[in-house]
Amino acid sequence: MAVHDLVKRFGPVAAVDGVSLSVAPGEFVALLGPSGSGKTTILMAIAGFEYPTSGRVEIGGEDVTWAPANKRNLGMVFQRYTLFPHMTVAENIAFPLKMRGVAKAERERRALAALETVRLGGYGGRRTNQLSGGQQQRIALARAIVYQPRVLLMDEPLSALDKNLREEMQLEIKHLQQQLGVTVVFVTHDQTEAMTMADRVAVLDHGRLQQVGAPRELYETPATPFVAGFIGETNFLAGRAVAAAAPGEIRAVDLDGGGRVGAVAVDRLAAGTALRIAVRPERVRLAPPAGGMAATLVEAIYAGVATTLIADLGSERRVRARLAAGVDERQWAAGEAVDLAWRPEDARAFAADRAG
Ligand SMILES: Nc1ncnc2c1ncn2[C@@H]1O[C@H](COP(=O)(O)OP(=O)(O)OP(=O)(O)O)[C@@H](O)[C@H]1O
Ligand SMILES: [Mg+2]
Repeated sequence: MAVHDLVKRFGPVAAVDGVSLSVAPGEFVALLGPSGSGKTTILMAIAGFEYPTSGRVEIGGEDVTWAPANKRNLGMVFQRYTLFPHMTVAENIAFPLKMRGVAKAERERRALAALETVRLGGYGGRRTNQLSGGQQQRIALARAIVYQPRVLLMDEPLSALDKNLREEMQLEIKHLQQQLGVTVVFVTHDQTEAMTMADRVAVLDHGRLQQVGAPRELYETPATPFVAGFIGETNFLAGRAVAAAAPGEIRAVDLDGGGRVGAVAVDRLAAGTALRIAVRPERVRLAPPAGGMAATLVEAIYAGVATTLIADLGSERRVRARLAAGVDERQWAAGEAVDLAWRPEDARAFAADRAG
């Protein structure tokens, strides 16, 4: 399925501002972005619950932009369980089949099979209010897959669940999707959830697509400062390009406030271009002072799996370094003088005046 140049305005607000995205059959794509970035609006346009201001929606090669929702054959699961309280679990799951005129015996057979798929065989006779949150969400999933939709749309289906159950369900849904081979568009504002579940993640900000890519690609090679800051943690430092660079080339950068470092140009840079470099905390190396980039440790935060060190470079510049437990067992203390370094290929330089 795909959306092409999708725009949705609500009065003066462009909730979705020219988004194009293709999802391959059997692919799991997550729409990730902060609150208000347009995720739900895109899903609603795909589902047919909202019509776009302009642009197209395509499913199975067919233009469905103006097709009514019930003609699109899509499965939907939302944040809040939208089960019918007056029906049993089995009746809930069979409901979409009933709407499609499937005979009773066949409905029952398929509802039971869907229940088995979500590992709730034996729960068919229960009332929905006799189920836990996670069970209800699995029933909602069973109801969405029972008629074998072409595409499954999910809008924050796990956000009402506690952390442990949520992490369990993330893997469960992902495995189920792989097993069924269904195409999924999954909305979340949780980057870990998106990275755990999706083949590709589409990052949105203010209704615009910032980058689409595999989780590793987004994390290792963010295309914009927004993506660098939204996915994982990043140190940003301002500076200027020492020499011109084409995208992908490594160049020296003079940091505002002093210090010269290397970084990979993301944008085309002219000599003297004002830029921002982004470097991940786990890529920052600390060493005893030896004439490198001098800093003072401000704080060492021990958190079991890793220790975060906050170093002051002077001129109101702070850099976070993360040391994984078991890798560097040296104990660092606040107030120590240190040298900071990173490999030039681990720092990315964005032109400061770029859009996004
Ligand atoms: N029916 C509507 N009328 C007016 N404005 C709307 C409507 N629906 C959404 N918006 C606006 O469009 C923008 C995008 O909203 P949307 O619900 O798509 O965001 P979202 O990314 O799903 O956010 P969240 O993570 O909070 O669910 C927001 O600024 C929102 O206020
Ligand atoms: Mg939303």
